[in-house]
Amino acid sequence: MAFRGRKGPSLSLAIAVGAALALGSGTSLAQDEEKPYEIRDGKVDQGTYNGFRRYHASCHTCHGPDGLGSSYAPSLVDSLKTMSYEDFAEVVINGRENLAAGQEKVMPGFGMVNDVAMYIDDIYGYLQARADGVLGRGRPERF
Ligand code: HEC
Repeated sequence: MAFRGRKGPSLSLAIAVGAALALGSGTSLAQDEEKPYEIRDGKVDQGTYNGFRRYHASCHTCHGPDGLGSSYAPSLVDSLKTMSYEDFAEVVINGRENLAAGQEKVMPGFGMVNDVAMYIDDIYGYLQARADGVLGRGRPERF
């Protein structure tokens, strides 16, 4: 992916929101071995289930069902194979525009959209489980 410019005020918003989310989430994403989701017998925890719901409310129109991508926006299942939580949160909060080479693709910023901003960790957890290959397509069951 191309380098993306960072804007001062929105970046500090991202840091503020990110710090608040990290404090509130109760799980430390900084530890590599700790996954941002829990799956037992094919069933997911409440947060991952919520992430599925939020993803399909706000993201799937562009990024495709189950995170698989579309002709307009990339597969987030693929993106999260390499993308860090910090980079993910930064793009979701601030958005990104790709106007290169005649393309006009816009990733809207969701920093002001509470239904997304408050649940970034859940959306991330759901997509990371998909990226790790431990969660299939469709609506998961909760344990
Ligand atoms: C209006 C369409 C649209 C919606 C809705 C949308 N996105 Fe995007 N998103 C895009 C486009 C287009 C790109 C690629 C931008 C680029 O090429 O730089 C993108 C890029 C991204 C990236 C960076 C991927 C990478 O590999 O660099 C992430 C992460 C992302 N979106 C997450 C989300 C999440 C989470 C949601 C829902 C909360 C969401 N997007 C909703 C259009 C959208």
